[in-house]
Amino acid sequence: MALYRNPKAWLFLLCLYPLVRLAALAWTGGLGANPIEFITRSLGTWTLTGLLITLAVTPVRRLSGYGGVLRYRRMLGLFAFVYGMLHLLSYLWLDQFFDWPGIFKDILKRPFITFGMAAFILLVPLALTSPHAAMRRLGRNWQRVHWLIYPAAIGAVLHYGWLVKKDLTQPLIYAGILALLLGTRIFWRYKKTKAG
Ligand code: HEM
Repeated sequence: MALYRNPKAWLFLLCLYPLVRLAALAWTGGLGANPIEFITRSLGTWTLTGLLITLAVTPVRRLSGYGGVLRYRRMLGLFAFVYGMLHLLSYLWLDQFFDWPGIFKDILKRPFITFGMAAFILLVPLALTSPHAAMRRLGRNWQRVHWLIYPAAIGAVLHYGWLVKKDLTQPLIYAGILALLLGTRIFWRYKKTKAG
């Protein structure tokens, strides 16, 4: 198939948008008065958005009946992880200058950093087991490992909620979307066990 007719290639390019945007803003001096905060926050927002989009794939498949969307889930999840890694890197490097004792203190002292770190650590096994070979090797356990996306997403929303001090609107919107995505799964599972 010609590359431009491949939807996966288009989706890949679309997933690069947050990085291209940041690069363009950096080039044109559009990162505002505090560029480090802007970069860290932007990468954090896209990590969370990526996690929620990945979690939306299954409900979209069930509601639309179109199984083809499942083909994109792995790539979406991996992009969310890569943005999470860049978000963490921007914190370690631009914010903390790799001051490891300070970073460890920060993780233990500031709950929003603790939740962020926990959410990120939970995503690591998902990324490591995303190749098809790992999927085959793990068999049914693969599904068990990939359940970690649920506590990771909850941790990520708590991370955002804890960070915001005054206006909780944005974190609450993310929390509402996550509750809806998890709620549909619980509802379908309940229906399945009742029917079976
Ligand atoms: C799955 C993992 C993570 C997700 C989804 C995530 C998401 C977010 C979100 C949505 C924000 C707020 C963005 C905004 O205000 O618009 C944020 C801010 C922030 N995150 Fe994360 N985060 C994650 C992991 C981490 C980790 C591991 C660290 C560091 C150890 C971290 C450090 C920060 C910091 C320092 C800010 C605030 C930046 C500032 O206000 O200057 N995050 N994150």
